[in-house]
Amino acid sequence: MKISNDIIYVGVNDRTIDLFEGHYKVPRGMAYNSYVILDEKIAVMDTVDARFGDEWLDNASAALDGRKPDYLIIQHVEPDHSANIARFLEAYPEAKIVCNAKAAAMINNFFSVDVSGGVIVENGGTLSLGRHTLTFIFAPMVHWPEVMMTYDGADKVLFSADAFGKFGALDANEPWDDEARRYYIGIVGKYGAQVQAVLKKAAEFDIKTICPLHGPVLCDNLAHYIYLYNTWSSYRVESEGVVIAYTSVYGNTKKAALLMAEKLRANGEHNVKTYDLARSDMAKVVAEAFRYGKLVLATTTYNADLFPYMREFLDCLVERGYRNRRIALIENGSWAPMAAKLMKEKLAACKDLTFIEPVVSIKSGIKPENEAQAEQAAAELCRN
Ligand code: FEO
Repeated sequence: MKISNDIIYVGVNDRTIDLFEGHYKVPRGMAYNSYVILDEKIAVMDTVDARFGDEWLDNASAALDGRKPDYLIIQHVEPDHSANIARFLEAYPEAKIVCNAKAAAMINNFFSVDVSGGVIVENGGTLSLGRHTLTFIFAPMVHWPEVMMTYDGADKVLFSADAFGKFGALDANEPWDDEARRYYIGIVGKYGAQVQAVLKKAAEFDIKTICPLHGPVLCDNLAHYIYLYNTWSSYRVESEGVVIAYTSVYGNTKKAALLMAEKLRANGEHNVKTYDLARSDMAKVVAEAFRYGKLVLATTTYNADLFPYMREFLDCLVERGYRNRRIALIENGSWAPMAAKLMKEKLAACKDLTFIEPVVSIKSGIKPENEAQAEQAAAELCRN
C-alpha cells in the first residue's frame, strides 16, 4: 500500500488476537502499522507485535526492493510497536535506531537492547532523509511517557503514534468512529489534557495525511477525526442521548431500568441505549457513557457494597476522568438499600457531575411509588 510516492505501508493485520493489552475484546482483530520512507536515506517507522516479525520484515524487504534502511524510528516503546527492534538490527546491522532518551531507556528495560549509540532526538528536533525532513513532536502520555509523533513536511504526513488509531484489522469492514472511540476512551481517555496539548502542537503543521500505529491511514475528511479527538479529550458530550447501565440479580433492577427507558422516551428522549453490564463489553459501555451527556445507573446492594460489575464500571469511569454529565440513580436492596449512596461516593472524584433527584429506591420488587420516582427522575433528567 502506497501512502505517497515515497511512503509505503509495511504493517500487519492480527486476526489471531482475542484481547488487546490483555483485556480489550477485539473480535475484528488489530492492525500494527509500520511505514517505510524511501529517500536518499531510508527510514522505517516503528516495528510490529512480536508474533508478526517475519511478516513485517518480509513487507519491509519488499518495500526496500534491495536497498538497505538507514534508520528505524521508534515513536512508542509499547511492545505492540517495538518488539522487533533486535530482529531488525540483526537483518540490518548498519541501521541506526532513532528515538528519544526516555524511549532508549525503556527499550533497554524491555528488550535488553542498548540503542544509546543510535540517534537520540529532542522535542522539535529534525532528521533529514533528503527530500523529506522529519520533525519529532513529543506527545507524553499519549499513551506512554516516551511517545513522540513525527511530521514529514515534504508529503505533509503526520505519523501520529497511538493517536487516531482504532481497534480492528485493516480488512475489518466497519466505520471508524465507534471502534476509535472505544480504543481512545479505553486506552488514552485518562490523558485528555495531554491529548489537548499535542492537538495544539499538531495544529501548527499542514497535515494532509495521518498515519497512526493502529487502524486505517486517514487522508479524507481529517477535520472530522480531529473534531472527535478534540471532543473526547476535552470530555465534551459528543451525541444527544441517554445511556442506561444496569446490573440485575433476579430481574427486578432490569425491570426498573427498562421502566426508566420507557419514561425517558415518554419525555421525548428518543436515543436511549440500555446495557446489562454483566452481559456487555465493558469497554463499549464505558465509551458510550463518555459519548452521551446523560447516564442512568441501576444496581443492587451486594455484600454491603455495590454489585461487582457496577463497581468495575464506575472504577473505569473514575479512572478515565469522567465528568460534566447528568446522572440519575436507581438502587435496589432487599433489606437495606444503599447502592445510590455508594455510587455517589465512588463518583465523588469526578468533576462537574449533576445527580438527578429523586433516586429510584426499590426494596426488591417495583412498587407504585417507584414508578412515580422513575417518572419524576426521567422528567428531571430530560430537562436541559
Ligand atoms: Fe499501540 Fe500504546 O501501543
